[in-house]
Amino acid sequence: KANERESLYLVSEYAQQYFQETLWDSEQGKAIGLSYFKERGFTEETIKKFKLGYSPDQWDAFTNAATEKGYQLEYLEKSGLTIVKENKQFDRFKGRVMFPIHSMSGRVLGFGGRILATDKKAAKYLNSPESDIYHKSKILYGIFHAKQAVSKEDNCYLVEGYTDVIQFHQAGIENVVASSGTALTPEQIRLINRLTKNITVLFDGDAAGLRASLRGVDLILEQGMNVKVCTFPEGEDPDSFAAKNDYEDIVLYLQENSKDFIQFKASLLVEESKNDPVKKAGTIRDIVNSIAKIPDRIQQEIYVQECSRIMDISEDVLFNTLAQSGKKEL
Ligand code: CTP
Ligand code: MN
Ligand code: MN
Ligand code: MN
Ligand code: MN
Repeated sequence: KANERESLYLVSEYAQQYFQETLWDSEQGKAIGLSYFKERGFTEETIKKFKLGYSPDQWDAFTNAATEKGYQLEYLEKSGLTIVKENKQFDRFKGRVMFPIHSMSGRVLGFGGRILATDKKAAKYLNSPESDIYHKSKILYGIFHAKQAVSKEDNCYLVEGYTDVIQFHQAGIENVVASSGTALTPEQIRLINRLTKNITVLFDGDAAGLRASLRGVDLILEQGMNVKVCTFPEGEDPDSFAAKNDYEDIVLYLQENSKDFIQFKASLLVEESKNDPVKKAGTIRDIVNSIAKIPDRIQQEIYVQECSRIMDISEDVLFNTLAQSGKKEL
């Protein structure tokens, strides 16, 4: 099994190198892949730092190159780089720009590949399938490049996508990782928990982003961590925002718009229904349920006080509700 894993690491490492060489050295790679990244505002330095690449727009160009180099089809298939169907072999990531996904220690575990033409019916991003080295629920994109800055800043920004991580780095903010579009998992949070107790969730300014941040908050609280939430203007994500603004503006925006989870949930209510007591009660229960996830009693009490103040409701009622919430989900 250890040998199998090692073979998967090696074939992934080779693929990363192949996709990079294709991006920088082939006519197709330069004309299509490199110019795509540059149009998105990535500098050459950034493209190299994240080892971005390009997979040729041919059915089996990568698979052929790899087998010629002596990589066994068995591992090409197990890594998901090659799809084998009826004895024919296809490159999974044909014609896509490539984002290698690295472990905490910098080894390549898998890839995300983005399609260039958005009019096609195919998924915008394709990701490596689960394998003995790639478990998407246990990985955070960018963790290798972020870990030092996360410890130093004692805070981690959590974003949705590959390009959000990359654009933030380029803007000078390096303590950032992405959940890569999947629902945040306890394992992913534990990776951050080893480096800092503070997470700021930065989700896209759309309905999906909002739902994702609400789900993530309770999981973070359960691990005894502090969580803030910062949303972006409608239609913006951290990538598009960082591409348009410089370091000072981004830092200022994050400072001014990061809210703790009670303020965040309370502000959602204000927008939805100012004078609706039923909805307000629902929001208060929602906040209390989140407070119930916090393992530390003192921290709980501090949040109860804050909730009481913001929602204008007595602490007694909140403590009673909290006591019940421990017994069952409200
Ligand atoms: N994602 C995915 N499959 C999709 C769409 C999205 O795996 N079909 C993941 C990717 O990791 C993506 C993240 O979810 O980075 C966030 O999705 P989205 O906001 O739609 O994409 P962006 O990261 O903003 O990508 P881009 O700016 O390139 O459009
Ligand atoms: Mn989105
Ligand atoms: Mn996005
Ligand atoms: Mn985007
Ligand atoms: Mn910029």
